[in-house]
Amino acid sequence: MDKHVKWFEELGALGFGFVEVGTVTAHPQKGSSKPRVWRLTRDRALVNAMGFPNDGAETSAERLRKKRTGETIVGTNIGKSLSTPVDAALDDYRTTARAMAPVSDFLVLNVSSPNTPDLQTLQAVEPLRALVEGVRDELALIEVQLPILVKISADLPDADIDQVAELCLSLELDGIVAVNTTVDRAVLQSAAARAAQNPGGISGAPLKGRAVDILRRLRTHVGDRLVLISVGGIETADDAWDRFEAGATLVQGHTGFVYGGPLWARRLNKELARRLREAGVSSVYELVGLYEGGGRGSGMANGAAGSSPQESALARNGETRPLGVGVPGAR
Ligand SMILES: Cc1cc2nc3c(=O)[nH]c(=O)nc-3n(C[C@H](O)[C@H](O)[C@H](O)COP(=O)(O)O)c2cc1C
Repeated sequence: MDKHVKWFEELGALGFGFVEVGTVTAHPQKGSSKPRVWRLTRDRALVNAMGFPNDGAETSAERLRKKRTGETIVGTNIGKSLSTPVDAALDDYRTTARAMAPVSDFLVLNVSSPNTPDLQTLQAVEPLRALVEGVRDELALIEVQLPILVKISADLPDADIDQVAELCLSLELDGIVAVNTTVDRAVLQSAAARAAQNPGGISGAPLKGRAVDILRRLRTHVGDRLVLISVGGIETADDAWDRFEAGATLVQGHTGFVYGGPLWARRLNKELARRLREAGVSSVYELVGLYEGGGRGSGMANGAAGSSPQESALARNGETRPLGVGVPGAR
């Protein structure tokens, strides 16, 4: 959300428990020409064709290093530069990982944005394996250890989702962020919006159904072995609650924040905390445990003894950071 790595601490102060900056690419780039974001208000959705505008890995890392106060958990979402052909993508991801990992709490390998040609081909098993292994090699060279997650598309067919899940398990990756935007115009309610020629990916309310289906599918497949960050169409505390019930370790939102305004995260967390109190549970972890018939803390990536999966999911070097009531953003 914070493409230029400038206001992540402010986002934290607004109530987000963790913030993902980026997408950051190896080379600075302007992104697509404007206009490149459109509101579809009747659908409570956005269409975006941003194309990863960002200041490049070096400047982004410098900014992150200088501006971090330690208050906010900050991860970096990494993508491929437009100028880099897809068969050279690994070098690009390695360059960005090398710059950003030392100053980030976690990394997200973005292989799912629809606005960079061929990027989504990296979701296939063999390219994804090479990508993850290459980034890991890079991190080993600089002796940095931090959680690595892969971000997948809402448009990935079920069989491919299973394959990605299987690959993440076999590579002992930390987790999956599900989902990125969809290019499927059929999810839109209004005929005018469906017919509009705006390029790009749809986010917001129309993504809800697919995001929950993919989350359930992933959780069923991976058991308690991966962190699952659910994103796509989360607008209210009820939506977040549904995601935790469906197996999310953490939740994220972008379009809900755009429509909901600056106090959106704080409002959502307050309401979630109220619902948790009413249900007689003290954290989302227990909520998930209730619905899943027991804790799923063991085996969570980077888990530290005595911490909840939410708290340990994004832990760097085994250190845990409090996420409020066990909900991202509740402070
Ligand atoms: C304007 C805009 C820009 C986005 N840029 C990125 C990006 O650079 N990298 C990425 O992985 N996802 C990006 N996304 C996708 C979101 O992170 C998220 O996966 C998607 O919007 C679904 O969540 P939402 O319904 O809460 O918005 C962007 C979404 C929007 C609306």
